[in-house]
Amino acid sequence: MSIKEILKSMEYGPAPEDSSVVQGWLDAHADGFGHFINGVFTAPGPGFEVHNPATGGVIACVTQGTTADVDAAVHAARKAQANWAKLSGHARARHLYAIARHVQQHARFLAVLESIDNGKPIRETRDIDVPLVARHFYHHAGWAEIAADELPGYAAHGVCGQVIPWNFPLLMLAWKIAPALAAGNTVVLKPAEYTPLTALAFAQVCAEAGLPAGVINIVTGDGATGAAITGHKGVDKVAFTGSTEVGKTIRRQIAGSGKALTLELGGKSPFVVFADADLDAAVEGVVDAIWFNQGQVCCAGARILVAEAVAARFESLLKARMAVLRVGDPLDKCTDMGAIVHPVQLDRIRALVAQGVAQGAVLHQGDAPEGCFYPPTIVTNVQPANVLSTEEIFGPVVTMTTFRSPTDAVELANNTRYGLAASIWSENVNLCLDIAAQVKAGVVWINCTNVFDAGAGFGGYRESGFGREGGREGMMAYLRRPAPTGTPAELPELQATPHGGGADAAIDRTAKLFVGGKQARPDSGYAYAVAGRKGAAGLAGLGNRKDIRNAVEAAGKVSGWASATGHNRAQVLYYLAENLSARANEFAARLESFGTKGATARAEVETAIRRCFWYAAQADKFDGAVHHTKSAHVTLAMPEPLGVMGVVCPTGVPLLGFISLVLPAIAMGNTVVAVPSQVHPLAATDLYQVLETSDIPAGVVNIITGPRDILAKTLAEHDGVAGMWYVGGRDGGAMVEVESAGNLKQTWTEFDGARDWSGADGQGRAFLHRATQIKNIWVPYGA
Ligand code: NAI
Repeated sequence: MSIKEILKSMEYGPAPEDSSVVQGWLDAHADGFGHFINGVFTAPGPGFEVHNPATGGVIACVTQGTTADVDAAVHAARKAQANWAKLSGHARARHLYAIARHVQQHARFLAVLESIDNGKPIRETRDIDVPLVARHFYHHAGWAEIAADELPGYAAHGVCGQVIPWNFPLLMLAWKIAPALAAGNTVVLKPAEYTPLTALAFAQVCAEAGLPAGVINIVTGDGATGAAITGHKGVDKVAFTGSTEVGKTIRRQIAGSGKALTLELGGKSPFVVFADADLDAAVEGVVDAIWFNQGQVCCAGARILVAEAVAARFESLLKARMAVLRVGDPLDKCTDMGAIVHPVQLDRIRALVAQGVAQGAVLHQGDAPEGCFYPPTIVTNVQPANVLSTEEIFGPVVTMTTFRSPTDAVELANNTRYGLAASIWSENVNLCLDIAAQVKAGVVWINCTNVFDAGAGFGGYRESGFGREGGREGMMAYLRRPAPTGTPAELPELQATPHGGGADAAIDRTAKLFVGGKQARPDSGYAYAVAGRKGAAGLAGLGNRKDIRNAVEAAGKVSGWASATGHNRAQVLYYLAENLSARANEFAARLESFGTKGATARAEVETAIRRCFWYAAQADKFDGAVHHTKSAHVTLAMPEPLGVMGVVCPTGVPLLGFISLVLPAIAMGNTVVAVPSQVHPLAATDLYQVLETSDIPAGVVNIITGPRDILAKTLAEHDGVAGMWYVGGRDGGAMVEVESAGNLKQTWTEFDGARDWSGADGQGRAFLHRATQIKNIWVPYGA
């Protein structure tokens, strides 16, 4: 074609990236890749082929990791961990810095390999994936250097088992490995079966950079290999990114094992365009939201919600933009969208789209070549119940629906079981921030989308998982405080008796339950006798599943507590302290009636009062942060309450245990359904009047007495509960973790009797961290 002809049509010619060096590397491994264990590559074993999705050709063979391979890798990681953690932070920082430098030196190689292995355009691997990988290692070299000063009192978990997906193979590896190593952990990581090659190349980079043997171990394989890693006895912390379904499987698999867990799962993120948005910018936003990486992005803006007034114009602008997207060879520098990772995924996209069309959706599509490619697609006429509105498609398919008012927009945005990200477009930043506060999502991008940086946390709400990757929050996920240990106390059997029956003349009253600010008779109509120092101390209501459900409903209905100012909540908690103080003698006498010695009882009440003051003080001081991320952006990290929390209290210190858990939860804006000490519930039921007179809004604290583990199970199963704290037995803790997998609630379980609630361990910022989740809001600026 002559220059004159080119100028006439303005067609792009091909601009292929040179892949000869990568091809040479693949040729050198023609007999297959082994695992990387203890600093060396093992001999290739039986395994599977890896394909270039753009051509369908076989590019490599990798080994299917067996349980023996996983054992060897965990063993190597364990052996290396003590020395790695013992290194000074500075020494670890130098290793991470060396990795960052080596990644930069091999940047082009890694970018090309990633494109060939995954099918994503070279423009993205070169300009986004690999630079972010290097940035992650630099950032975490910094954390290794300063962690001892910035995060004192924490230690590494030990060995981390990490399983990652195929959509950002090298970037997800960096998100997992960099913080783990910075914190002093060692790692066994499994890349996804479709895309294992950059992880193996990375292992080579680490060896070249002089990382000690065993600090990172890469085992390739499928889901069975992944399960062998996550379930391995020698693994102390599990980090997973992938589908919500597998995330739930892992949650159940490791329940009760004591392993720490973070999950970064699926999404169905809203992309909200208000009438006053810069529509051209928003159209480019959609390109980055759903056509970036072929839409195979967990935080993809997959649901466009556009103001009715501008919907027609927006749709026509978007269609015009879609028509000029270039879909094809990932190694062509002019390609906008590459190949779908695997024919299985292509079939999945096609099947979902066909199902959506059968349900009435209308498709608008661009072009795509033959092969493992899918055209950019806009779907209109799509109802909220359409499968394309509800399911994560993980392809370049975006739905478009309209809204009338900001309230509608929020309702539609939150109409999903997920909560990973949201993107909001309007020239009115007041409106954007108002919507950002109301959207249930861990990341909110205002007038931008899919922006990432190592300095900010990333992770979801709801069924998008828990835990954050990046920044200080991400570091916290790889550190722990020594957990209290011990043997959980056994609970005596409960003896049911008619509620209000007063079987024993010495029993003066039967305590009711406390639901929605009112005292309520238990649904069962029964009570149980509470043992005291001299025979029965009283009767407490025998709560059941129905009572828990009523209490969760009451807690879910409260409006205005989460959005109250910290000052307002502080005032209420101070008032609670004051009222408790006024009745201190009564509470001390109640504790004595259980057999607590006089001085100890008075001390327990005194500490409970001080704890109210401490959490009142924190209510307006447990702040977020402004992260340094990209230039011309502020990234606000805002702690938000989880929502309704189930709180199962310790047995032994019935007043203080209750206060120590309920107060931090409500100080942060949560509402609570609490199960007080089963053995000594009356210390909590005596609080009803204190709660009533302290201006705590009805429903913020609900109290259900009765059989601890039955009530805990109902709470853990309940989809209206977002977080679960359980102090109890070993089996009970495992049960809570299993049942919480249903809607992926955040859990905190601990053995009853292990913690000294009266000491420093009974209070602190750790409780507030667990009562909150961080929302990161990105706000670009510039005139
Ligand atoms: P997946 O969740 O099955 O795979 C992710 C990783 O988990 C892979 O390394 C896999 O080998 C491993 N794995 C599978 N089962 C496991 C188990 N029981 N224990 C431990 N590890 C296990 O995702 P898949 O099948 O590749 O994709 C299916 C769908 O999942 C996609 O279409 C997409 O909707 C979603 N997905 C979401 C991702 C996200 O980042 N949110 C990433 C990948 C997939």
